Amino acid sequence: DSNKLILKPGLEGVPVTNSSICDIDGNKGKLLYRGYSIEELSQKSSFLETAYLLIWGELPTAIQLRDFEQEVQMHRRLSFRVRDMMKCFPATGHPMDALQSSAASLGLFYSRRAIDDPNYIYNAVIRLIAKIPTMIAAFQLIRKGQDPIQPRDDLTYSSNFLYMLTEKEQDPIAAKVFDRCLILHAEHSLNASTFSARVTASTLTDPYAVIASAVGTLAGPLHGGANEDVIAMLEEIKTPENAASFLDNAIKNKSKIMGFGHREYKVKDPRAIILQKLAEELFIRFGADEMYEVAKSLEAEAIPRLGPKGIFPNVDFYSGLVYRKLGIPRDLFTPIFAISRVAGWLAHWREQLGANRIFRPSQIYTGSAPRDWISLENRK
Ligand code: SDX
Repeated sequence: DSNKLILKPGLEGVPVTNSSICDIDGNKGKLLYRGYSIEELSQKSSFLETAYLLIWGELPTAIQLRDFEQEVQMHRRLSFRVRDMMKCFPATGHPMDALQSSAASLGLFYSRRAIDDPNYIYNAVIRLIAKIPTMIAAFQLIRKGQDPIQPRDDLTYSSNFLYMLTEKEQDPIAAKVFDRCLILHAEHSLNASTFSARVTASTLTDPYAVIASAVGTLAGPLHGGANEDVIAMLEEIKTPENAASFLDNAIKNKSKIMGFGHREYKVKDPRAIILQKLAEELFIRFGADEMYEVAKSLEAEAIPRLGPKGIFPNVDFYSGLVYRKLGIPRDLFTPIFAISRVAGWLAHWREQLGANRIFRPSQIYTGSAPRDWISLENRK
């Protein structure tokens, strides 16, 4: 009897799986990947090492890490067919849509229905981690009317991505900061896109479909898409002095402050704290950004207004300021989130397959009672 069911909008507080990948304490602002704190990982690890940890469950040995890095390096190139397909995409299309389509297209190239084969799983992991950055960089050059450039084997994962995007070798500090951003975004338990990945995975479809559905989910402004909207909002506010009146208006009109609020955190997101420090490091080295003053003022003015409701900056609030200082166009911020989150999605894909049952929740029916058909001429 569906009348006895209690609906939890947005599945708030409803566990949908057991998981050993990520732990969040939303009252203390703590985030752990496989038991390691985000503070320590972002200081000591690299994105590829963190991805390995998330996906396989343990930190790699030196040999395992070297092999993993080499495999990723070997698979960074795209088939000419994928590049040619991307050349047909409209240049005005959003890069998240380009990424979703290109990621899904990998399913055309690699056999399906082999997901019980450990080699297939390993190769799919390598391909997705290796090729997603290349796809984003390729779309960036293609939409400017240029041919994509090939990855460079002498560069690290992050410096190679920045090189493919800008056609220039980047300052090693910029590449290191970027790599730390990737660590910070790699995993976050049952967020919307990861849930989407798990739902898709639970049908035993191929991993490229799993990642494509997650990319589509991440794109929305309530989720990963917020990092792009934050910069637009800061530019609209223009000066630190305008922050208070902007907030008062937004609260009066019940509009959302982008980059604020979180289902899990009732304090400032620990990733926002680290991202703010990374932004400051970049400003010291490469020059200030006046939008940072606007952001700080907005955060300060938000504390008395939204703090009592547990609404503080989330991961998307400061990340855009970091990417902007690295010269990255605004509509690539969410695709960059995807480069990183693919690690978490793949970890959840594997975990889902390890104890799978298809997701098939129920509903509370609120429609019409059974009724008689009305023929076309009798309808009003
Ligand atoms: C990410 O889940 C994850 O882990 C996601 C993520 C990850 O790593 O995967 O952390 C990445 O998606 C970060 C979030 C990016 N989105 C935004 O910055 C968009 C703005 N924020 C929100 O819309 C909102 O806070 C969400 C979507 C993040 C969370 O939504 P919830 O948990 O459904 O909360 P809600 O919308 O029901 O809000 C609860 C209350 C409401 O007030 P009341 O109606 O109870 O009075 O808080 C208010 C909301 O109006 N509120 C906000 C607000 N966020 C919540 N008010 C103003 N501005 C905001 N940003």
